Amino acid sequence: MDHDMIRRDFPLIYNADFVYLDSSATSQKPQSVMKAVEDYYRTSNANPLRGLYDLSVRATELYENAREKAARFIGGAADEIVFTRNASESLNLIAYSYALNFLDSGDEIIVAISEHHSDMLPWQFAAKQKGCTVKYLECDEQGRYTAEGLESLITDRTRIVAMAQVSNVIGRENDIKRFAEIAHAHGAVFVCDGAQSVPHMKVDVKELGVDFFVFSGHKMLAPMGIGVLWARHELLEKMPPFLYGGEMIEYVTLQGATYAEVPHKFEAGTVNDGGAVGLAAAIDYIDRIGFDYISQREEQLCALAMEHIADIPHIRVIGSEDPHEHHGIITFTVEGVHPHDVSTIMSNDKVCVRAGHHCAQPLHKFLKTMSTTRASIAFYNNEDDIIRFIDCLKTIRRRMGYDE
Ligand code: ALA
Repeated sequence: MDHDMIRRDFPLIYNADFVYLDSSATSQKPQSVMKAVEDYYRTSNANPLRGLYDLSVRATELYENAREKAARFIGGAADEIVFTRNASESLNLIAYSYALNFLDSGDEIIVAISEHHSDMLPWQFAAKQKGCTVKYLECDEQGRYTAEGLESLITDRTRIVAMAQVSNVIGRENDIKRFAEIAHAHGAVFVCDGAQSVPHMKVDVKELGVDFFVFSGHKMLAPMGIGVLWARHELLEKMPPFLYGGEMIEYVTLQGATYAEVPHKFEAGTVNDGGAVGLAAAIDYIDRIGFDYISQREEQLCALAMEHIADIPHIRVIGSEDPHEHHGIITFTVEGVHPHDVSTIMSNDKVCVRAGHHCAQPLHKFLKTMSTTRASIAFYNNEDDIIRFIDCLKTIRRRMGYDE
């Protein structure tokens, strides 16, 4: 595959004077996704799921076509896909609709310590409401979780185990299949945050054996504002609605209502059809490029970066020393330099990286650091991007007044 041809598909970064290494925060968008969204508004815009006229029917078809694509993308069924705004909203939906209704006082929720706040705060909230306990599964220094660790924490009061497939700070892939089996053996459901995995690898929810799987469109080439919740059909069936309003009902009286079939009972109000169309186009684009290419290219670029970083003194990379275990995420500290200074210097050299706690404050505390800098790589990056990042990184301490 011609790397330059692929980069051309991303107009914002092609021949740009800056280097974009913040794809874990949000990916760049290919031309085909932008065109699909524009075409939707130019040719098919009407409120879907309501009108009986042709334009609205067409808008509905596009929306449901996107649902089918999203289902196929992760190996689920279309009626198991709920469109949300993003992974955070999907996780909140599970907390409000599942945890508040099916957990009892004294129950436990186990959350991996490396989780993004989006996969931590909804559980803390639900636990508080229901009188449950949140327990945290710890990883080792390299970000590795073990089955023994989970076995020693889980009890028959554990109702939910929540873990990301790939952490947004560490980048390592967790053995979700194994952890889901342990959860099930104790009668708990397994919630998997796939926000940082779906852009990088082929996911099959049935193979993973999870009960809930969530992701955001904007991290996988689609527009912002469209996200996915996948859940096993029988769970969605028994869960009550999360938001109430238009088009999520079957019948309404002055005293109450009956609700639409899943997944529509979870999609109150006018939906984000343009976003769904953009998500479908992003999936088409990924299908064309293929995950073989995507993961190979990202590993190659990650390996190049880590090879150079190993030669720069005073840099500590969070997680594994093996670039194959990073999935495009290189989070690091520069000894004696605050990550905001690292990021500002990088910005002066037109290198875009993220600094701070990356919405994972408990993980940073666990790793005994306040904050870090993160360079995140996607398949549309190239060797020049990596070298510019490395060249800048080499100068940071000197520019902050250190001798080396
Ligand atoms: N969750 C996104 C990140 O990790 C924003 O940067």
